Amino acid sequence: MNYNFDEIIDRKGTDALKLEALLPRWGREDLIPMWIADMDFRTPPFIVNAVKKRIQCEVFGYTDKPLAWYQSIINWQKRRHHLNITKEMICFVPGVVPAIVMAMEAFTNVGDNVLIQPPVYYPFEAAIRNTSRKVVTNPLLIENGQYRINFEDFEEKVKICKLFILCNPHNPGGRVWTREELQKLADICSKYQVLMISDEIHADLTLPSHQHTSLASLSKEVAMNCVTFSSASKTFNMAGLASAYAIIPNPEVRQKFLDKTVGYMLTDGNIFAFQTTVAAYEEGEEWLSQLLQYIQGNINFLLQYVDKYLPKVKYLIPQASYLVFLDFRELGLSQEELVSFCTNKAHLALVDGSVFGKEGTGFMRINLASPRSVIEKALNQLKEAFSNN
Ligand SMILES: Cc1ncc(COP(=O)(O)O)c(C=O)c1O
Repeated sequence: MNYNFDEIIDRKGTDALKLEALLPRWGREDLIPMWIADMDFRTPPFIVNAVKKRIQCEVFGYTDKPLAWYQSIINWQKRRHHLNITKEMICFVPGVVPAIVMAMEAFTNVGDNVLIQPPVYYPFEAAIRNTSRKVVTNPLLIENGQYRINFEDFEEKVKICKLFILCNPHNPGGRVWTREELQKLADICSKYQVLMISDEIHADLTLPSHQHTSLASLSKEVAMNCVTFSSASKTFNMAGLASAYAIIPNPEVRQKFLDKTVGYMLTDGNIFAFQTTVAAYEEGEEWLSQLLQYIQGNINFLLQYVDKYLPKVKYLIPQASYLVFLDFRELGLSQEELVSFCTNKAHLALVDGSVFGKEGTGFMRINLASPRSVIEKALNQLKEAFSNN
């Protein structure tokens, strides 16, 4: 079956955050929304069918986690990421971000240092600050148009930390970290006995010519010092279903995490959380393969367009996911001017790069998980804004 990613789906009237936030956050509604990381593509039919099947019984009472949910995660992680896990290691969480907040409470104390690698997904910093822990940064470096890790700085910083949060693959830079890079991070963390969290929510969106490495797949030793968070939500466009999971091989670490999640009664999930993940992981391979081809096509389209018409704009070529970090630094605008240019001149709602950390200043993140015609329109608007400037 060929899926149609060119279809324009009107999300108006569905309370879509992508649209509802335009006026309050950007101050206007006449923008193409290309910010929050969800997709404008139709959620795949096997997931819609799982929802439909469940609503046939018109009783929406409490629900349990079926064995099939655990098994689908075990099979998927093994097949796609060579990660061997067992049922006991899997813990339900309503989202990766809530899980990161819970991890702060489970694994650190108020005032402890937690390491992140900016520019990075901004809820990491928020989770640390909101739980009164301290942010320590190991800024990424740009080399040959890609982020790379400054390992000397990493070792210096991690020494004084209790926990390290890795974005694997990286958002907003789209880097797929190599085995060697991950092993180096793991070795340093092991040396200083610092627990690692690997946020792998973008793993299944790794683009065709790259290979994601799950941190916990490196070795048993690494797995015992690592907590992996993932979900089918980003990949299969079902973020609104609030369903994710933690993989925690180390029983002591797992118990600390469960003490928090069970304590906050956050382990139950909603009636759609489980069977939709089963459907995604059991029936999703073909759809995902076509999705990734389409996203790669959108990325190639953007890169060629920018090279041809917007030569002052640079970019980090994504190796995973549908987010591109556009580099506007050559324009010499202040961040405020840049945001205003994209919003008020180009009529695009993009993510201000500086929210990922000061290292993201001069950048804007664009979401390309939309029909190609929308991407083309957005780029034409950007080009026009440049020519009128
Ligand atoms: C790296 C990363 N982690 C987590 C999330 C969100 O996870 P959830 O919706 O499960 O809280 C996102 C969403 O964009 C993300 O990019």
